[in-house]
Amino acid sequence: MKTTLILISLFSFDLLASDALISLGERLFNDGRFSRHFWQNAQGQVNATLKNGESHLDVLVTPLGPVASPFSGESTSCASCHMVDQAFSNVGMRTYTDFAPTAPIPTRMDLQTHTARNTPGLVGIGSAFNRNRFSHWDGEFSDHAETVLGNFTGRNMGWLKTESSIALKNIVKILREDNGHAHQGAEFGGSYESVFRSGIDVEEDFRLNFSERVDFKKASDQEVINAVITAVTAYLDDLDFQKNEKGEYVGSPFDQFLLKNGFTTVPKKGETSKDFTERLRNFLQKLTTPKFIAEVEFPTHNKKFGFGHRELQGAKIFFNLPNHPGNKGSCFKCHAAPLFSDQSFHNIGTSQAIYDEVHGFGAFIQKYIPKEEYRADLYLNQAADNSDPSKMDLGLWNFYNRNIEVTEFFKKEICLGGPCDLEMTIGRFKTASLRDLAHSNPYFHHGQMADLTGVLAHYMKVGIQARQGLMRNPDPILKEIQLNGHGLQYLQKFLDSLNEDYE
Ligand code: HEC
Ligand code: HEC
Repeated sequence: MKTTLILISLFSFDLLASDALISLGERLFNDGRFSRHFWQNAQGQVNATLKNGESHLDVLVTPLGPVASPFSGESTSCASCHMVDQAFSNVGMRTYTDFAPTAPIPTRMDLQTHTARNTPGLVGIGSAFNRNRFSHWDGEFSDHAETVLGNFTGRNMGWLKTESSIALKNIVKILREDNGHAHQGAEFGGSYESVFRSGIDVEEDFRLNFSERVDFKKASDQEVINAVITAVTAYLDDLDFQKNEKGEYVGSPFDQFLLKNGFTTVPKKGETSKDFTERLRNFLQKLTTPKFIAEVEFPTHNKKFGFGHRELQGAKIFFNLPNHPGNKGSCFKCHAAPLFSDQSFHNIGTSQAIYDEVHGFGAFIQKYIPKEEYRADLYLNQAADNSDPSKMDLGLWNFYNRNIEVTEFFKKEICLGGPCDLEMTIGRFKTASLRDLAHSNPYFHHGQMADLTGVLAHYMKVGIQARQGLMRNPDPILKEIQLNGHGLQYLQKFLDSLNEDYE
């Protein structure tokens, strides 16, 4: 009973976590011992260093082909897919994602070799403007704590669905028995237990009525797990793009352009992203003598970015303002500032395009998709595969009337209280953020779009297809999209101006 109360009080507040808790979260995020591989091979010796790492971590899959992996010889941790500067010297920087279209996972009885989807970047996930906290491309999880728990005990760490209780026991054992010498213990201030006992302010970090600090000897298994979830959630909630002391984003040339011209880069207190985006559009519309940002080198990109005439043309297309090549992107309607995501779910034809690429044009529209009364326990969340036409990825469809919170959100914010059913969730995915895209290629939930040129060509195509009625359950906004070759070039420049040296 106590445990349930703790969970509720932990996660329903905006946690203002201490640095100690965040640092603990970082260590947990990088610790490979929570993987099934470690559990299976360490034979209960939680401080052991294994002779052999996981073979799928031997090389890093990158657009340039396989390269030496910083994780070779190790066991899977959150960081082996969500990396930052680990491979900076040989491939490049990342926004807590990998370089692969879909991530390799250890082979198990289900014979899966890769995740079904592309690893999303995590920078910005902790932003105050990340209003709702649904996660995974399809809204599987309702908040960060749920996501963290789901990931620690999930297939990405090697665990089958039937093994989550073993995964949890393994976490508890490691936390209790970690001696603080191996597995980055020294770097992060000693054993998990000693860090918890000395460094973490329970009252502040856990918002509990405990009068004493966490003591693993007295804590129940559930309390230890709650502590792990809280620390990793605090770490995620700390991941954001560069801000100044006023909390305004400052890292990208577009941010710098807005600030230089006397505007801001974030909503006012209480202002929604939508209202802020309207204010931003108005500002750009009225800006008669823009002061531009000269191109400078961005060291983590090894490239120059700035904000000049061409970027401004791109912004005008993005925000549907009068523009010189006469294009209409309507991008802002889903990619609302400041994170350039409305955190909602839309069908922009990505699943249809990839399914048709594999099975032939028109295959997706014709495919039988069961209605709710016939869905039973079927999930359609697999990457399209030419040997098996039943494999398809319908995104939000998988969690409609399964995840209560995301269903409520869908009914209220998307159906706006009107008619609403499973059909309307087909092919909807969470709107991706557009900040620092050069550090998170390849793109789309399936990771099959290698670069932004391809992404923009997709939008040009779906605009036409939506108008011609060739799409299944398309977002109505797609019909508005009108782009030509010049428009695409300007839009690309604008997207480039959202890059930054995140560290
Ligand atoms: C094998 C690679 C892999 C590993 C290991 C991994 N992830 Fe992920 N992560 C992914 C993929 C792929 C997705 C997208 C899943 C989906 O949408 O179906 C994801 C999604 C997420 C998201 C949601 C992001 C969003 O915006 O929706 C969070 C948060 C996250 N992972 C955290 C973690 C944590 C914490 C761990 C360690 C316990 C972890 N991940 C381990 C690949 C991985
Ligand atoms: C109807 C809503 C909507 C509109 C309009 C829209 N987008 Fe998107 N965008 C999305 C969604 C949803 C995704 C994720 C889709 C997926 O991966 O299946 C996405 C993904 C992207 C991505 C890939 C990001 C990544 O990390 O994978 C880019 C880049 C992008 N959009 C740019 C644009 C541009 C530029 C425009 C205007 C031409 C635009 N979008 C218009 C909803 C929209």
